[in-house]
Amino acid sequence: MADVKRRDFLGMTLGGVAGVGAIAALVAMKKTWDPLPSVVSAGFTTVDVGGMQEGEIRDTQWRGKPVYIMKKKVGEKILPARDFKLGDAHYSIGIKICTHLGCIPNWKANEEIFHCPCHGGQFTSNGVNVAGTPPPRPFDMPPFAIKGETTLILGESGKEYEAMMASANA
Ligand code: FES
Repeated sequence: MADVKRRDFLGMTLGGVAGVGAIAALVAMKKTWDPLPSVVSAGFTTVDVGGMQEGEIRDTQWRGKPVYIMKKKVGEKILPARDFKLGDAHYSIGIKICTHLGCIPNWKANEEIFHCPCHGGQFTSNGVNVAGTPPPRPFDMPPFAIKGETTLILGESGKEYEAMMASANA
């Protein structure tokens, strides 16, 4: 009789442990399947560029991709297809993924160039690929819209972004 009770107790204990394990596994699976918070908010990223200094780069993410925004220096070359005006300054924006094989380039401030560590690809501060290096085209740009004086909404296609696209395709 004591054996039966012990067996029952062990059975219930093992069953309980297995049940807790199954619930934990289900919770983990649900977390894996759930979209990331940035996707839940319809894929928009809000960036405040207020207070940026000339030549400063601000890194952010849009839909899990690394995005940079650079406040251009006064007198720096402006490319209508790559740069936009906000307030009285110009900014450059791009998805910082190398268009060669997808590595993440680093900004080298002393050379004012994005350098890709994988095969030596280079991009200018406008995000344009440097001739003679492996990347075949400039950085892609995220769609963006300007809100107010200093805010960018990445993921929304505003008139500045549309103008840049038109200029790039002209
Ligand atoms: S992945 Fe950047 S140069 Fe090859």
